[in-house]
Amino acid sequence: MPDVSRHEVARHVAIVGLLRGKHLMPAKTILSPQPAACLVRPPRPYDFERMAELAQQLGYLCSAEQIRARLAQMQNSQQNAVFVAQAADGKIVGWIGAQVFRCVELDPFAEITGLVVDEQSRSCGIGKLLVAAAEQWARSVGSRVLCVRCNVVRERAQRFYTANGFEEIKVQKIFRKPLR
Ligand SMILES: CC(C)(COP(=O)(O)OP(=O)(O)OC[C@H]1O[C@@H](n2cnc3c(N)ncnc32)[C@H](O)[C@@H]1OP(=O)(O)O)[C@@H](O)C(=O)NCCC(=O)NCCS
Repeated sequence: MPDVSRHEVARHVAIVGLLRGKHLMPAKTILSPQPAACLVRPPRPYDFERMAELAQQLGYLCSAEQIRARLAQMQNSQQNAVFVAQAADGKIVGWIGAQVFRCVELDPFAEITGLVVDEQSRSCGIGKLLVAAAEQWARSVGSRVLCVRCNVVRERAQRFYTANGFEEIKVQKIFRKPLR
């Protein structure tokens, strides 16, 4: 099984963020003014189970095995990037996926394909750290922009993106046709 930790970006992106610890620390330390450290790094196989749990919070039911198989197909670091956020206690509290989108009519550009922070750990700056990692990766592959498609029902996420420098450029409908 390919080791995702070998993802090339690992050498370039390891962000340690000092976060307000209210949701990141055990209950007893919730009121502590001490910040909690959070590491953003590429995922490792033992993270897949937890990533699957978080995917569920995003609204997608998938297994650790499915995540393993998908990430195995995303090893080209010029094309894909995935990062997890690891809290000080070792727990994975979020993840982000990004890719280079290629099409006929536009130059390639980077886009966020998935982002989630654990419900218990939101509003501590973890989403910001994950986006920063994706941004750093996007620059490293030569993208001049970072885009994200965000469901209109995700109002909190829309506020989050706007607060983090994203500008709404259009509203789309997604069509799908099952192929038999
Ligand atoms: C959108 C999402 C990823 C944001 O993650 P997050 O870790 O909560 O994001 P941040 O903490 O960086 O920022 C969120 C808020 O916390 C605030 N915040 C950030 N750092 C903070 C800190 N140190 N102390 C206090 N507040 C802080 C921000 O100002 C922001 O405020 P707002 O919600 O009022 O705009 C998260 O809400 C989520 O997982 N949502 C469900 C899944 C989803 O919609 N994903 C997006 C798919 S497109």
